[in-house]
Amino acid sequence: MIPKARKAVFPAAGLGTRFLPATKAQPKEMLPLVDKPLIQYGVEEAIHSGLQDIIIVTGRGKSAIEDHFDVSFELEHLLERSGKKDLLALVRGISDMIDISYVRQKEALGLGHAVLRAKELVGKEPFCVVLSDDVIDAEIPCLRQLQDVYEFYGASVVALMEVPKDMISAYGVVDAEPVDHMGQSDRLFRIRNMVEKPKVEDAPSNLAIIGRYVLTPEIFTSIEAVEPGRGGEIQLTDGLKHLLRSRPVYGYKFEGKRYDAGDKLGFLQATVEFALKRYDLGAQFRQYLKTLPL
Ligand code: UTP
Repeated sequence: MIPKARKAVFPAAGLGTRFLPATKAQPKEMLPLVDKPLIQYGVEEAIHSGLQDIIIVTGRGKSAIEDHFDVSFELEHLLERSGKKDLLALVRGISDMIDISYVRQKEALGLGHAVLRAKELVGKEPFCVVLSDDVIDAEIPCLRQLQDVYEFYGASVVALMEVPKDMISAYGVVDAEPVDHMGQSDRLFRIRNMVEKPKVEDAPSNLAIIGRYVLTPEIFTSIEAVEPGRGGEIQLTDGLKHLLRSRPVYGYKFEGKRYDAGDKLGFLQATVEFALKRYDLGAQFRQYLKTLPL
């Protein structure tokens, strides 16, 4: 029987340079979309996908993430005393959400290196990886969609998205062949090769890897085998390329919309669209937008 993934690793030790100066003294993962930090969207997606344990890889200056998911006695006491029951429930709900463990990445030596830091906590079982600055709005949570594929084939699966040609150089891009799956032939791909941030002319396809993965534990050995690249960084894509030599790796074009909230424009787009969807804000916000001389 294929074992199910139970743990999700959240690498959150990056420097967030695209969002400076906001990220100088606060983690990118704590930037709020409307009123909820980016990382909480990811954690809720993991919970709604049936995962039971969260492992967050943090670094220097990231203590706000731990505080966010911890109990806040003072705040809870204050809300209780002033009878703000709804807010109290909201705040308590966050610390009660799920079991979270933390592991440190002392230096930001790349996404592959960050994932490797979770090796001991993950153990020898399949696990998910979530990059919380990729926020995904989907009817079926993206991680759930990937796990359904994983549970069918028992092999690692990465989330794929079609990207316009002029943007492709910002992504890891796959060379892949379509596979018939559940009566569809345009969603699942068996990956032949992958290239990190290719030049437009060298991109093997328009299918980019985005921040959701289900990985088998062999990935750790593969990451360990990878030589560090520029700046001593170890890329997860290189680890996956190594894994491809001995194991099949699939890519799944998920259903839903992804926002790159680690990028200023992507963050603004997500903010506007999430605010418009809010039952308590949407109507008013729409009215406001209509008054703008666009
Ligand atoms: P990004 O490249 O998007 O994040 O990494 P970054 O490096 O923080 O941001 P920029 O590019 O400088 O603006 C994707 C994810 O991997 C984590 C980041 O925190 C982010 O969630 N990461 C990246 C690590 O945990 N450690 C690293 O060494 C690099």
